[in-house]
Amino acid sequence: MTTAILSALPEEQSGLLARLEQGQRLVHAGRVFWRGNLHGHGVVLALSGIGKVAAATTATLLIERFRVARIVFTGVAGGVGEGVSVGDIVVAQDYVQHDMDASPLFDRWLVPGYAGVRLPCDTALTATLSEAVNDCLVSANGHFDHEFMNAAPRLHLGLVASGDRFISSADVAHALRTPLAAAGHPVLAVEMEGAAVAQVCLDYRLPFAAVRTVSDRADDSAHVDFPAFIQKVASRYAERIVQALCEKLSNR
Ligand code: ADE
Repeated sequence: MTTAILSALPEEQSGLLARLEQGQRLVHAGRVFWRGNLHGHGVVLALSGIGKVAAATTATLLIERFRVARIVFTGVAGGVGEGVSVGDIVVAQDYVQHDMDASPLFDRWLVPGYAGVRLPCDTALTATLSEAVNDCLVSANGHFDHEFMNAAPRLHLGLVASGDRFISSADVAHALRTPLAAAGHPVLAVEMEGAAVAQVCLDYRLPFAAVRTVSDRADDSAHVDFPAFIQKVASRYAERIVQALCEKLSNR
């Protein structure tokens, strides 16, 4: 059973690529896919591209062309939940598209045709991914240390919001988070792809799970924090977490 490992940016993927064995490079729809073995597990590594449409195209290709059995997203996100700090790790239980609004025809944030505002991730795969992250944090031995953090990284499990906008203002983050929280949807983090992949995977009934390292607080310094984190830290997190996940998936 092949697992697709999706990353948004090359910098997030580079550590995984460096460890890929028997790597085979394939190009479809202008996207590069790498098929091979990672820690004894069959994988396809792919870049989602940026934003919901690019990510949906990549996810569909992974399912239709590569016949992957599951998709796991590893990337970064802006932390908007209380206590979600730079360097923390968020595992998504479900997703919301914060820029979807077909009201008053449909409930705000609901993607018409789907059961609810929240697009759920796969429960079993998410539990395995959370275990993998937890194991990494317990045995971190300083591996996750970096200049952007001021406390040991923590794991948060919950709702993540995606939309076609990089959030780089505390006011915008507040305006996004507050009505969602008031409607019973407290968001931990924001990014730009996960909900689209969740939606495609629901269409195909394919297991999906996502882990995001918090690179910034989606506030007025996000545009500085994000690239620095991406360059210096993101790949290290992804490498460790994916290794732990592959080992778990191979042993099941
Ligand atoms: N990914 C990482 N940080 C983000 C932010 N602040 N907004 C949207 N996507 C992000």
